[in-house]
Amino acid sequence: MRNQSTDITMSDDDFSKLRAIVHRNTGITIGETRKTMLVSRLRRRLREVDEPSFAAYITRLSKDPGEMQELTDRVTTNETYFYRTPRVWNYFQEVFLPEFHAVGENRRMRVWSAAASTGEEAHTIGAILEQQRLTKPGFDYSVLGTDVSSRVLEVAQKGVYNGRSIARFRKERPELFASHMAGSDADGYKAVPPVRARLKFKLHNLLERLGGTSPFDVVFLRNVLIYFTDEDQETILRHVRDLIRPDGVLFIGESETLNNLSTGFEQVAPIIYRPVTRAGGPCA
Ligand SMILES: C[S@@+](CC[C@H](N)C(=O)[O-])C[C@H]1O[C@@H](n2cnc3c(N)ncnc32)[C@H](O)[C@@H]1O
Repeated sequence: MRNQSTDITMSDDDFSKLRAIVHRNTGITIGETRKTMLVSRLRRRLREVDEPSFAAYITRLSKDPGEMQELTDRVTTNETYFYRTPRVWNYFQEVFLPEFHAVGENRRMRVWSAAASTGEEAHTIGAILEQQRLTKPGFDYSVLGTDVSSRVLEVAQKGVYNGRSIARFRKERPELFASHMAGSDADGYKAVPPVRARLKFKLHNLLERLGGTSPFDVVFLRNVLIYFTDEDQETILRHVRDLIRPDGVLFIGESETLNNLSTGFEQVAPIIYRPVTRAGGPCA
């Protein structure tokens, strides 16, 4: 008989083992008070794989590497939407882009949407940069979206959006939406082919160095640092610092700060950071 997973309880020992497994594999720190959250996120998985208890599920995790990805997909929080936090986009368009163009024509901007979730941030970047490409001769761009969850990346790769996901973008930037997103309310909206051709998505754990890439001009690392300890945040920021150009810009989430960390970045406005240069100031 299949297990009745709503009856399954998680012992304190199971909880601490699962917290340790999640931390080891994703860096995410599940708070000591979040047992109920973990139980509710994993119960259905136990039913799907027909495991009678969390202890049995922990054993399965040790034997089946593929199950680790399933666990990661279930414990990550993937909330996102197009044009999140207008302050970020205002700085990007009004300060960073003119600065970038002032350096010269025929430049390709490389952007990293780290912790991209289902891709709304990467697609917003794509729409803004596509508008630039159409008006600035010689300008081109590429956007890389990465995440530790394969499930969200599948959604990003399909790139079909609707409802709440696009509501703010549609309302606040109607022309940008209309010119770079095609579709209907019934079938959803997809970025136009030139934007899609410049977006790539890839599985990546922020605690590991991102290989096979040249430096980025812009890194979005938004609404993900909150899940890590200070030490792990410093590791992540060290990796980002190694991959961002000296004149680049880093955006973090509205409830995040780097101010108490040692990172090699300096704040230029709330949630906006630039690399500290050898001369000691941000390279603006
Ligand atoms: C709340 S979403 C943020 C999405 C988007 N950046 C935004 O601000 O709207 C957090 C994302 O971080 C991802 N994440 C969590 N731990 C990660 C890790 N170690 N490496 C890469 N991505 C991670 C999650 O899978 C999730 O999709």
